[in-house]
Amino acid sequence: MSWKRSERLMETIKHYSHFPATGVSLRQMVQFGERPSTGKYFSFRTLFRASQFLSEELPIRLAHRVQELGDLPDGLNDMPSIKKVKDWYAQSFEEITNLPKPQLSKDVRDALIKPPKIGKPSRILQETTQNPSIKCGQYHSSPYQKSNGNGENKKGAARRYFATVDDGVDWPPELHAYNQRFAETLHAIKRRHDGVVTTVAQGILEYKRKKQRMQIDSNIQSFLDRFYMSRIGIRMLIGQHIALTDQSHNKDPSYVGIICTKTNVRDLAQEAIDNARFVCEDHFGLFDAPKVQLVCPPGLNFMYVPGHLSHMLFETLKNSLRAVVETHGADKEEFPVTKVVVAEGKEDITIKISDEGGGIPRSSIPLVWTYMYTTVDTTPSLDPDFDKSDFKAPMAGFGYGLPISRLYARYFGGDLKLISMEGYGTDVYLHLNRLSSSSEPLQ
Ligand SMILES: Nc1ncnc2c1ncn2[C@@H]1O[C@H](COP(=O)(O)OP(=O)(O)O)[C@@H](O)[C@H]1O
Ligand SMILES: [Mg+2]
Repeated sequence: MSWKRSERLMETIKHYSHFPATGVSLRQMVQFGERPSTGKYFSFRTLFRASQFLSEELPIRLAHRVQELGDLPDGLNDMPSIKKVKDWYAQSFEEITNLPKPQLSKDVRDALIKPPKIGKPSRILQETTQNPSIKCGQYHSSPYQKSNGNGENKKGAARRYFATVDDGVDWPPELHAYNQRFAETLHAIKRRHDGVVTTVAQGILEYKRKKQRMQIDSNIQSFLDRFYMSRIGIRMLIGQHIALTDQSHNKDPSYVGIICTKTNVRDLAQEAIDNARFVCEDHFGLFDAPKVQLVCPPGLNFMYVPGHLSHMLFETLKNSLRAVVETHGADKEEFPVTKVVVAEGKEDITIKISDEGGGIPRSSIPLVWTYMYTTVDTTPSLDPDFDKSDFKAPMAGFGYGLPISRLYARYFGGDLKLISMEGYGTDVYLHLNRLSSSSEPLQ
């Protein structure tokens, strides 16, 4: 199926790209999706409000990406894979903005707008706070920028992600049909964008080949940081919306969409350890991968997206295991144990991963955060499906493990840091912000 972008579409996209994105916090996403205290599922009305928010917010975020891909410097914007990705974003923009709005009677429209019941005004969500992992000015959407000097959001300056309560009204079938149609459109969009990371990586390779470059410059590096961060945000909002719409998946009361309000750190860490060891055995042909010791309070849980935490732990653990095996030799009987220590603070949950894999020379530390930096000799082929399922992920070789994991950490106000002792080993600190109020860092 070939899709063509029209002049007019590109004009509309340009128009949308002038609006700032509205950052949402983890806590707001949870408050929004929570079922009403009456015990019923959240109402069509809540879903409708969510659809409304997303039908404005997603086109803005997509439009920023289309503009930025088109404006990339030095001919990078002309690379075939970059153009392909730009068209995906433009097409998704078109699909959302062209979706027909439901024809609703005035009564229904009024009921949707007015607070559910007298004495029970629609809850306005807790304000977002500045994301502590982001420098002021780094991302335009940060609420700090819209502030009046004392960190307070200008009221009404940005659209809000509203919470409403179920009021027992029977909503017309048109509303239900619209919610369904909207969720299906999002589903198709999410699938279209599955291969974005690898296709952009392909585009960078095309560029490096054409320009005979070894490294990418800091402009491209910060473009990729913004681009992939934005992708995390878009996929978070879409994934959350799809999960809320599909209520059959909402059996577990600790889940609100894809957010788990009681993410158990120890269980997730143990699972990531098992997966990383399995991939390591497979890759190096080992009978028994280097051991990993986990020190974590068993009952420690917090509000997070389990998928994000698994991703970060899996990537950092694979790095440690690879370093340990390569430093000590795959034919060793016993390897030094990698330690995973989890600490619980008021602000942060911090996970330290300490290995004796020989460390990293100090001069290479800045490089480990750049995309496509790897010390693997032959990069595995860029399979566009590779990021669809984590367990098929390769041991190493794309150079995307650390930079993308750091974006995931920063997305919810955490961070990822690395300290190495060359000749001995590496400590990776994964800080997870448990206040859950920081705004998504977006541009
Ligand atoms: N724990 C570690 N010990 C030693 N080197 C590491 C460690 N973690 C990362 N590195 C270095 O950083 C590079 C980039 O890591 P990463 O972004 O995960 O990409 P990849 O694993 O695909 O190479 C690795 O190739 C390796 O050289
Ligand atoms: Mg890696």
